[in-house]
Amino acid sequence: MSDNIRPESMARITTPALAEAFIEEQLKALRAQIGDKKVLLALSGGVDSSVVAALLIKAVGKQLVCVHVNHGLMRKGESEQVIEVFGKQLDANLIYVDASDRFLDLLAGVAEPEKKRKIIGAEFIKVFDEEAAKLEGISFLAQGTIYPDILESDGVKAHHNVGGLPEDMQFELVEPVKLLYKDEVRVVGEALGLPHGMVYRQPFPGPGLGVRCLGAITRDRLHALREADAILREEFDKNGLAGKVWQYFVAVPDMKSVGVKDGKRYEGWPAIIRAVNTTDAMTATVENVPFELLQHITERITSEVEGINRVLYDLTPKPIGTIEWE
Ligand code: XMP
Repeated sequence: MSDNIRPESMARITTPALAEAFIEEQLKALRAQIGDKKVLLALSGGVDSSVVAALLIKAVGKQLVCVHVNHGLMRKGESEQVIEVFGKQLDANLIYVDASDRFLDLLAGVAEPEKKRKIIGAEFIKVFDEEAAKLEGISFLAQGTIYPDILESDGVKAHHNVGGLPEDMQFELVEPVKLLYKDEVRVVGEALGLPHGMVYRQPFPGPGLGVRCLGAITRDRLHALREADAILREEFDKNGLAGKVWQYFVAVPDMKSVGVKDGKRYEGWPAIIRAVNTTDAMTATVENVPFELLQHITERITSEVEGINRVLYDLTPKPIGTIEWE
């Protein structure tokens, strides 16, 4: 499959001018491949699928149909951003599916991490399939495959790709960024006019908050996790850490401890903050977050988030801890 090999002559896309040249070339190639047919894309709001969507909107406009499946495990504001950017600003043909209840009902009582991942992955495919079946005249399936996905497609990453779609779909594939590295996808995304926060966002696992709401997910604990995570992100943004720290998030375990609030006993969950730096996610070091900032975040989370009564900072590098908790 020689078209899956990046030619040595291909320059690394590092500047807006190089991105523009790539975009022009891709627009021509996409129009030639797609003609007047329709293309379907699972748009998660992650960097890769967003850049593919923006490229296709430019190339074929309303011939692209984007499907955004909200599995109920998105971070705060993520689905809203997809609707705002793609549905409103870029006027895309966007189908929004709120499947939160389906996912959360299936996950109820399931504590085993790999089982949770499998349920989320399988249900995602099911929901997407159902939406695809409602559409008529789709000839192509677009995917945000990037070059590392091709290099790593030896099975190691299989469980990582929740957005991975069934192989028996009867569509021809459209993969405009498959020869690009992540940093190049970002430069292209900026050149396409996508919001900086969307293009430079930190990696987010496909199963989303599902692997951070540890053990069996409940709606109240998931809600607390989402709110605490949003406060962490807001504070990292405000304090200049957002662009510096590779990945940061909150995990909330399925356990309570005793606390005291307004003079009364207050049992709550702990919010565990993780903030790590890495280049390849194989090893990671812990960010040296200023203690005063950790205190401020603790104050905010414990006072603003219902159900949380302690905040912990995870000091564990990888190895021995993985980046995610499950
Ligand atoms: P770990 O926890 O293995 O994480 O140190 C390494 C990187 O992979 C991400 N991660 C996932 N991404 N689906 C994904 O799409 C998954 O199931 C998954 N598990 C971990 C993790 O966030 C980190 O960036």
